[in-house]
Amino acid sequence: MKKLLYQFDTDALPAVFDNVVGYDGGADHIGAYGGVNAKNVGTLVEGAIFTRGPKDKKNTAIFIGGGNMAEGQAVLAAVQRKFFAKFRVSVMFDCNGSNTTASAAVAWLAHGRNLAGKRAVVLGGTGPVGQRAAVLLAREGAAVAITGRKREVVQAACDALKVRFGIEVQALEAPTNVERGAAIQGAQIVLATGAAGITLLDAKQWQQSPSLELVADANASPPAGIEGIGMHDRGAASHGKILFGSLGFGALKLALHRACIARLFEQNDLLLDAEEIYAIAKSMVG
Ligand SMILES: NC(=O)c1ccc[n+]([C@@H]2O[C@H](COP(=O)([O-])OP(=O)(O)OC[C@H]3O[C@@H](n4cnc5c(N)ncnc54)[C@H](OP(=O)(O)O)[C@@H]3O)[C@@H](O)[C@H]2O)c1
Repeated sequence: MKKLLYQFDTDALPAVFDNVVGYDGGADHIGAYGGVNAKNVGTLVEGAIFTRGPKDKKNTAIFIGGGNMAEGQAVLAAVQRKFFAKFRVSVMFDCNGSNTTASAAVAWLAHGRNLAGKRAVVLGGTGPVGQRAAVLLAREGAAVAITGRKREVVQAACDALKVRFGIEVQALEAPTNVERGAAIQGAQIVLATGAAGITLLDAKQWQQSPSLELVADANASPPAGIEGIGMHDRGAASHGKILFGSLGFGALKLALHRACIARLFEQNDLLLDAEEIYAIAKSMVG
């Protein structure tokens, strides 16, 4: 029986990245839908849950992606509302690579270290990757702040995290590198998760920091999100800090994403969201 993955993307065009990794993770065929929302996803879900018998349903799965976390979460909730009794399929939630990227980054940061009690600042943390990284760092016991250019946007992201995960994340308005430099004062961990190709911190700002221990950058499109971090850095030592670049933890991100897709086809009732994906990342890191 063919393994069918239904890729529901809240953006107009379903992400090619998620499509490729879906195949590499083991799907035999992917139905990719763009413009999916909480209102129109219902009939798509019905098609997935009513077509195969109980033993065969594990061969059908759903992947939720797209650039807007709130819309993605609303789609996930709508998908789950359609499930009942044995009429359900496994689901992975990974809007913009949020869970897999954040899990890979934080799993490496926490690998062989205790992050409890440390202060972590996620620069450009209002996007999908930054929000999920903030959650995972907080779950590791760090006191977390996220920065963004507008106070109301950052506060809204922190409020959403409080609702979904019950965690307190500090909202910091920091529209320039100078203000982001001030935001990392006293922090031991900084992780940049800003938009592709945007530099959020100058090299001297982290190099001269007396408190920073771990410096990581998720941005894989030049220039670096944090100046002076090498894309391939994976635990490199510089200026007394340990560095991680986007491709340094990106290998784990890709392997994790593929492994999650493979797991979807092992049972028909799996949900892979932040907590579950991070647990898998921790089992794979190193
Ligand atoms: N390494 C990997 O394996 C991997 C995998 C997936 C994604 N990524 C990378 O991870 C990063 C985060 O992804 P994402 O989808 O969460 O990003 P995103 O939503 O595109 O952007 C994150 C945040 O960047 C801020 N931003 C946008 N333009 C800016 C500007 N001109 N100056 C300063 N800040 C700006 C925005 O925050 P405010 O508007 O609140 O300021 C936005 O919420 C991206 O660089 C992406 O390419 C890496």
